[in-house]
Amino acid sequence: MKVTVVGAGAVGASCAEYIAIKDFASEVVLLDIKEGYAEGKAMDLMQTASLNGFDTKITGITNDYAATAGSDVAVITSGIPRKPGMTREELIGINAGIVKAVSSSIIKYSPNCILIVVSNPMDTMTYLVHKTLGLPKNQIIGMGGALDSARFKYRLAEALEAPISDVDGMVIGGHSDTGMVPLIAHATRNSIKVTEFLSEERLEQVAADTKVGGATLTKLLGTSAWYAPGAAVSSMVQAIACDQKKMFPCSAYLEGEYDLNDICIGVPVLLGKNGIEQIVDITLSDADKAKIQESAAGVKKTNALLEL
Ligand code: 2OP
Repeated sequence: MKVTVVGAGAVGASCAEYIAIKDFASEVVLLDIKEGYAEGKAMDLMQTASLNGFDTKITGITNDYAATAGSDVAVITSGIPRKPGMTREELIGINAGIVKAVSSSIIKYSPNCILIVVSNPMDTMTYLVHKTLGLPKNQIIGMGGALDSARFKYRLAEALEAPISDVDGMVIGGHSDTGMVPLIAHATRNSIKVTEFLSEERLEQVAADTKVGGATLTKLLGTSAWYAPGAAVSSMVQAIACDQKKMFPCSAYLEGEYDLNDICIGVPVLLGKNGIEQIVDITLSDADKAKIQESAAGVKKTNALLEL
């Protein structure tokens, strides 16, 4: 299993690190446009191999896509991250050109590669890759829901004063401060609905804190987060590499599912060796149905800014 990670910034490097630590891939190629940067990160990470006990070979490369040839999965983290006070949508101008060029270069050398898009505004960037490359829809996946769900579980565990391993929950919808839809009614503590333990008001606070999860960190860190994004991507890569058919909310191209068409947005999918093996169409409450439609309208507004 060969994995390429494009962008050796904080998210890309953290993603490469988690993939290596989980030790399921034989090779990770880390690519960046900044001369020597990916090589440096790769060397530093390789010097943790004996300490962290992994055999994955991490190679760094400056902008030479030939080195990515034969990749099974590629993760696109390239582009600029948001600064405090910025929305993910404001990054579209710069990131669209970068994501278009990067995804085309990857597919040139690895035509069957599964692409995971992380760059923001992620749902729109995933849509752009679909429209640019015209590949089968299972091959292009956006990472947002896996991260937002991890943040949801963190907030739920905090509110419940429970260990995170007791908690389960999912966030669907757009990967934006206003577009996320935390599925409160489906969230559980050890199979019991969290609505049994927490008041409506407290759960509304959990949902609100989840939705601004990225913005809260951007304010604290001065740039966007990397540990949880890297870990979320690495879990998705592992599900594909190990053909787990594991369920994650991911940005997928929809053709009628959830009454949505011609859009990439977060919905539950099964990830396996073919990328998106299945889009899981679950029954939502009327309130959540309305929220996902509203979220989709926001994503479509951003998509309209693309020059396709
Ligand atoms: C975040 O929410 C990077 O968009 C990502 O932290």
